[in-house]
Amino acid sequence: MIFTVAIDGPAAAGKGTISRAVAARFGFAHLDTGALYRAVGVKGGDPVSAARGLTPEDLARDDLRTLEAGQAASRVAVIPEVRAALLEFQRRFARREGGAVLDGRDIGTVICPEAEVKLFVTASAEVRAHRRWLEVGGDAEKVLAEVRERDDRDMNRADAPLKPAKDAVLLDTSALGAEAAIAQAIALVQARLPG
Ligand code: CDP
Ligand code: CDP
Repeated sequence: MIFTVAIDGPAAAGKGTISRAVAARFGFAHLDTGALYRAVGVKGGDPVSAARGLTPEDLARDDLRTLEAGQAASRVAVIPEVRAALLEFQRRFARREGGAVLDGRDIGTVICPEAEVKLFVTASAEVRAHRRWLEVGGDAEKVLAEVRERDDRDMNRADAPLKPAKDAVLLDTSALGAEAAIAQAIALVQARLPG
């Protein structure tokens, strides 16, 4: 069975949390596409070469979830050649046998416009920044500024900007706990599964 769940949205909206739960529930493979851009961003050197030569070791680095890696990711993510270098791998992953969940910014719009389920997860910038601050700690104002700056860059780039696909289901989790958000996503997938 080919079945793709595309989960897009801004920073710390809960994309990864929902994706992992959906993948576990249905036995689908999961790809965190943000990790690809984070790995390119932290690798240093020429970002286009880094994207073309990305290795499993690059994706296993333990500094990928830092605020700095997020910033570096969104800076390299504006480069069309970087996005192009990562495209085929993501497309093949999306259409692999057995079902796949991908989360990122452009899954429903560019990587897999034919996805059977598209979810656009959002929450207010304040709520999202608070969630990220609970994970990384430090200066809460700095975390909010980082989230805002990254969203702004992601929404305003020319190539594959962050925006909901026309046929995406919007899920605002500002006042929704992770468990409730996961339950809604699972119900949506269940309703669209063949058979
Ligand atoms: O992948 P993304 O950056 O969109 O977000 P995440 O890493 O999945 O989630 C950020 C944090 O928000 C995690 O610690 C979640 O437990 C929490 N959270 C959530 O994901 N969804 C909610 N509705 C509420 C909280
Ligand atoms: O977890 P969080 O939402 O904070 O970020 P992420 O999903 O790990 O993505 C990091 C950065 O990579 C984003 O801010 C985007 O600039 C970029 N990205 C992208 O351009 N396209 C994707 N499909 C995924 C991430």
